[in-house]
Amino acid sequence: GQRGLVDRFGRVATDLRISLIDKCNLRCTYCMPADGMAWLPKSKLMTAAEVRRIVMIGVRDLGVRELRLTGGEPLVRVDLVDIVAGIREDHPDLPISLTTNAVGLEKKAEALAAAGLSRINVSLDTLHASTFKELARRDQLDATLDGVAAAHAAGLTPIKINAVLMRGVNDHEAPQLLDWALKRGYELRFIEQMPLDADHGWRKENMVTSAEIRESLAAGGFVLSSDPRERNGAPAERFQVARAESTESIEGTVGIIASVTEPFCTDCRRTRITAEGRIMACLFSRTETDLLDLLRSDASDEDIANRWREAMWGKPRAHGMDHTGLGDEDFVQPDRSMSAIGG
Ligand code: GTP
Ligand code: 5AD
Ligand code: SF4
Repeated sequence: GQRGLVDRFGRVATDLRISLIDKCNLRCTYCMPADGMAWLPKSKLMTAAEVRRIVMIGVRDLGVRELRLTGGEPLVRVDLVDIVAGIREDHPDLPISLTTNAVGLEKKAEALAAAGLSRINVSLDTLHASTFKELARRDQLDATLDGVAAAHAAGLTPIKINAVLMRGVNDHEAPQLLDWALKRGYELRFIEQMPLDADHGWRKENMVTSAEIRESLAAGGFVLSSDPRERNGAPAERFQVARAESTESIEGTVGIIASVTEPFCTDCRRTRITAEGRIMACLFSRTETDLLDLLRSDASDEDIANRWREAMWGKPRAHGMDHTGLGDEDFVQPDRSMSAIGG
């Protein structure tokens, strides 16, 4: 059969993440600068047709089995619904998910579901308006909550909620966030902050670790037990959750994405395309491989597939972040922030 996206370490990438736009309507401190971002001109963004062709090549020729659309903020793309519909037309059974901040989703959830979107993951770090404003630098908590509720009503489920905890900002909210998510049937994942902020202010000793998160949930009255389901290369380690007052009743699950203290690189199944059409074999790749020039030439699908395979062959073994701050020299923070690379 066809060769897939294999790397030198024997990993096979089956999970495609495509960033649709670098712009965002929030300015979360861990992901973007307060101002002064230079946006990509529209001519440098992949068009809907180019995205559709990339997905076709990925799925038909390279073994891609899952697609996630990201940004920046993918809802900022005015043609998002059309992009989803086009991909869905080509691939009736492909899981297509969206990672979004949900601002503006209230108006688009129905249309996205009708276009064939499977599910969403929503970034939500706090339930307090003032903390939201401090963290996201915009006063949009209500818009986010309305967006999540609309997605739930539209059947874009299971809904996962991503919360990055920041020391002294929202780390005390972990139990409250979990209570909120359990009551609504959402799967909350706590995320260790990675050094992908624009200001290069990340410090390992400031990062809220997976171990601390678990302690905080225990202190808040939750009892976690390991989830028997297969992890399958997922970034989140999942736990079943009960409340201390009734430990025999499992109320849902919570995940912890410990990319820094417990990296999942050895089991990584990801390949990503930035909004300007460049392959990044790893979130922390120092090299990027342009596909847009090929897409805009008379290159064949096979030429594109071959370049993609070559890029993935060079995927780094791991990010090396676990050594950061411990004296090893192998980790260098990328120049670009998370929003520009693609979430
Ligand atoms: P699911 O299929 O729902 O499990 O999606 P996901 O968790 O892979 O995607 P999502 O976009 O929700 O990302 C969740 C978190 O995973 C992000 O906040 C990042 O912290 C982390 N993450 C995403 N992509 C990568 C990656 O390529 N490498 C690492 N180390 N972390 C990543
Ligand atoms: N570290 C960890 N997660 C991050 N995200 C954005 N920036 C960072 C970072 N520096 C998360 C967002 C979003 C997901 C795509 O990435 O919360 O949910
Ligand atoms: Fe995969 Fe790179 Fe993320 Fe590690 S850092 S999990 S290798 S994409």
